[in-house]
Amino acid sequence: MNIKEYKSYNEMCKYVAEQIKYAINFNFMSEYFTLGLATGSTPIGIYTNMVADGWDTSKVYTFNLDEYADISLYHSQSYRTFMHEHLFRDKKFRQSFFPTEENYRNYDVMIQRFPIDIQILGIGTNGHIAFNEPGTPRDSLTRKVELTENTRNDNSRFFESMDQVPTHAYTMGIESIMRAKQIYLLANGKHKKDILEKACYGEVTSDIPASYLQEHEAVDVLYCE
Ligand code: PGA
Repeated sequence: MNIKEYKSYNEMCKYVAEQIKYAINFNFMSEYFTLGLATGSTPIGIYTNMVADGWDTSKVYTFNLDEYADISLYHSQSYRTFMHEHLFRDKKFRQSFFPTEENYRNYDVMIQRFPIDIQILGIGTNGHIAFNEPGTPRDSLTRKVELTENTRNDNSRFFESMDQVPTHAYTMGIESIMRAKQIYLLANGKHKKDILEKACYGEVTSDIPASYLQEHEAVDVLYCE
């Protein structure tokens, strides 16, 4: 995995949005295309570029990486609300899925039915991908997880008080993510540089879940300060 550095956040996001567009166009003979989507601040620019560009996504299925447990679909901090605000309100997809209490046990089977062509990923400062925190095994699948205090603290800025921050979430596992055909791992900001270098060039270890991506044959790593 080589880290490609970009001069600006928008340039980095525009590149990924264009790769998605090319891939969908290139697959014009197939009946559908599948995108794996991420939340968080990093991918927002990709979605902005996708919305600004008028291309057709009506044959695209989407699978989001994760979602909080015990949070209403309409809660301002649910990942479904996030995706609605940044992408789904303006761009129409064939069908969009999130892991939930009802479906998380079947989520990987659903993905197998429509295998992910392109997966977008962010990285946490502790090396997590989705809610796969340090210690997550390589063969993990979609499941319900307890959030670490560190992650709850990081996310508490979006909630009125700490006791409103969800304690659990549903997340695709490492194995679920590794099944994607192509992965774009993005990191924005100097505070991500150190962990990104460890994930890309260091030892493959459960201590840094993103390091498992070294074992995937098609990962593009994009970074900007
Ligand atoms: P961020 O989060 O995009 O808001 O930095 C990334 C992550 O924690 O996975």
